[in-house]
Amino acid sequence: MDYGFFDGEFISLDEPKVQLEDRGYQFGDGIYEVTRIYNGKPFALTRHLERCRRSLRELRIPITYMDEELTAIHNDLIKKSGIRNGAIYFQITRGCAPRSHAFPDQTVPLLSMTIRESAPDADQQENGIHCILAEDIRWLRCDIKSLNLLGNVLAKQAAHDKGVQGTIQYRKDQNLITEGSSSNFFIVKDDIIWTHPTNEYILKGVTRSILMDELIPKLGYTVVEKAFTPEFALTADEAFATSTSLEVTPVVDIDGHTIGTGAPGSISCALLKAYHELVAKECK
Ligand code: PDD
Repeated sequence: MDYGFFDGEFISLDEPKVQLEDRGYQFGDGIYEVTRIYNGKPFALTRHLERCRRSLRELRIPITYMDEELTAIHNDLIKKSGIRNGAIYFQITRGCAPRSHAFPDQTVPLLSMTIRESAPDADQQENGIHCILAEDIRWLRCDIKSLNLLGNVLAKQAAHDKGVQGTIQYRKDQNLITEGSSSNFFIVKDDIIWTHPTNEYILKGVTRSILMDELIPKLGYTVVEKAFTPEFALTADEAFATSTSLEVTPVVDIDGHTIGTGAPGSISCALLKAYHELVAKECK
């Protein structure tokens, strides 16, 4: 059963629990993480908690939830819900205070979480997704996993409006691709993997890090962290997007241009296979 956690209590998802003056609700003043649950176990939780701490530090939200406590709540939610395969969403806001832009004097961060059953889209992984390009209109701290997601929401809606599955964003002033609306983006050209470097223009995805630190070196591929233009991406041999929910999903069409042969490329498929093997090993 889907389940929630709010301000220290386990609750069912239909219980009305938002605090009107939560700064997350009024300003988007908070951070979040999404972790996948495989076989009743959270995958890559250490990496997610590390990024959560970094996001809190960057926003100067006091770190009042320790990794041990967050891990225990993840495990309790999995147990209470009985969910074996799904996703846990959690957010920590700066807390509740009468509405005023500057930080309140007393900050008591507020944690809430949900668990829901879900599975990666096997059809998309097998056949690839079609994407559009859209201007990246987000703020210049995309490295923080903050609750402010309107730029991402509008980017994703643009794909839905066009009847395709994804959006790849580019900065118009630089003519450089950054990332997907909720994923990191990679291309392969002449056996070299390209992806945007980690700076304020993209989120350092946990899935991206697993590929960069573990899977790409293991499979012996060459990768460069260098931004590239939309025009260059259209000439790629392969393209793929990574995220907690997509895992590694091939991109076979961008703005109506076929990428490579139009079928998922061999490097994308090898990385997805290696990712599944890692998940199977970590979440036995
Ligand atoms: N999104 N870039 C953006 C803008 C994202 O929102 C995400 C993840 C990623 C990939 O990060 P990771 O590999 O850690 O999932 C990159 C989550 C899943 C979401 O918003 O639901």
